[in-house]
Amino acid sequence: MTGPTAMQSIEDRIRTRDRADPFASVREATDVHRTGHCCWAYPYDDGTLLGAISIAVRPSRVLELGTALGYTACWWAAGGARVDTIERDPSHVRLAREQLARHGLAQAVTVHPSEFGDALDELTGPYDLVFFDGYEPSSDLLSRLRSVTADDGLLVTANLDLATGRTLSALRAMPGWTTQFSTGLAFTAKTFDDQP
Ligand SMILES: C[S@@+](CC[C@H](N)C(=O)[O-])C[C@H]1O[C@@H](n2cnc3c(N)ncnc32)[C@H](O)[C@@H]1O
Repeated sequence: MTGPTAMQSIEDRIRTRDRADPFASVREATDVHRTGHCCWAYPYDDGTLLGAISIAVRPSRVLELGTALGYTACWWAAGGARVDTIERDPSHVRLAREQLARHGLAQAVTVHPSEFGDALDELTGPYDLVFFDGYEPSSDLLSRLRSVTADDGLLVTANLDLATGRTLSALRAMPGWTTQFSTGLAFTAKTFDDQP
């Protein structure tokens, strides 16, 4: 599901999306937790945007890096995907599992309590959608994420405001891959040439 038409479809879905957020309580719990824990569990700004991407892409398998309390994992799972999400902070892992169970999504989401790189050693692609919501991906991590992304899959990178020029350049300069920036996210796909 890649190509200029696909990007247009994603942007159309985002523009016309339903803005109701069934997981607002997870987002709020994450904000409360962060204040007490003094950590960097900043929930994604607006899960409805990810819901719109899900409707456009229809991923069966999603890999997420950066669970926090599970707000974005809830959104991917609600779109019907089977989700593997990676989180190194044990308290976030425990709280995410609680939130997922509370929302009836525990069966759809596996929280991997690990460093990103270590979990990737154990996980097998391909994933239809890979969502990076950690701090800044190294170029080595980006190339590992590409290798588990399906040929017609999508790598979505968040937190571009934290990314240095080196990461942005790495996203732009991946041979055989194209990155488009939209709605504060980087969308990287193997080809943006639509099939006839
Ligand atoms: C921005 S928060 C994720 C927010 C989450 N997706 C949401 O919307 O609620 C980033 C999370 O990634 C975790 N994290 C950061 N670097 C990591 C790493 N190298 N390995 C595993 N987890 C990491 C942090 O502990 C934090 O919970």
